[in-house]
Amino acid sequence: MALWYLTRATGGVALVLLTITLVLGIVDVARLSSQRTPRFVVDAVHRTASLFVVLLVAIHVLTAVLDSFAPIRLADAIVPFGGTYRPVWVGLGALSFDLLLALAVTSLLRARIGVRAWRTVHWAAYACWPFAFMHALGTGSDIKPGWMLWLSLACAAAVALAVLARAAASYSAGVAVTGVTAVLAIAGLALALWIPAGPLANGWAKKSGTPSSLLGGKR
Ligand code: HEM
Repeated sequence: MALWYLTRATGGVALVLLTITLVLGIVDVARLSSQRTPRFVVDAVHRTASLFVVLLVAIHVLTAVLDSFAPIRLADAIVPFGGTYRPVWVGLGALSFDLLLALAVTSLLRARIGVRAWRTVHWAAYACWPFAFMHALGTGSDIKPGWMLWLSLACAAAVALAVLARAAASYSAGVAVTGVTAVLAIAGLALALWIPAGPLANGWAKKSGTPSSLLGGKR
């Protein structure tokens, strides 16, 4: 039971830190830093936060695997969609974790692999976050009570604002802002329709792929 609580707590903190890491990365690359918070500070906080995310997700995964409540294997944390517990939603977490590891390893090896290869892999950060976000909404026990849902939506709002600011600071700002606004509007609408019919609806535990032996369990 304590392990499962730790899974949930580390998951929530990891999502917040992943959001901070992504937002600071965008602020850094879009040169949105100010005199009060110069670029090297943004850079240092971005790097430190990203290391904490890896550490927290590692604890998140280990506690989920070690807890006897759900049948989750270590392989399920790396190989997406092969598990028996909410396979799609845990699978999205695994995809996010794989990308996170690729981002961390290539950043540590940046001097060896070169800035070009590092930058190409770093674009994956834009996919890492939505996978983690959808994983949290689809797997989290704390979405229905509300607080985790609002925390996740606040993270989404922060990412959306940062991406818009990045588009506005780009070379062809007009086209970029229009394109990003359209994508964000569609994503927002899709979420507004899906959340009440999905994670907040009765029967989501079964629909999301919880093994029938666990349905009706206390957690
Ligand atoms: C970057 C990667 C990941 C992030 C940011 C993340 C974050 C989260 C968040 C925010 C929650 C919701 C917690 C709650 O509702 O209280 C959650 C739930 C969960 N995650 Fe992850 N996760 C990641 C990867 C993984 C992986 C790879 C696994 C596979 C073992 C995993 C297993 C779980 C499980 C089993 C739950 C459900 C716990 C519950 O009942 O609330 N996560 N995760």
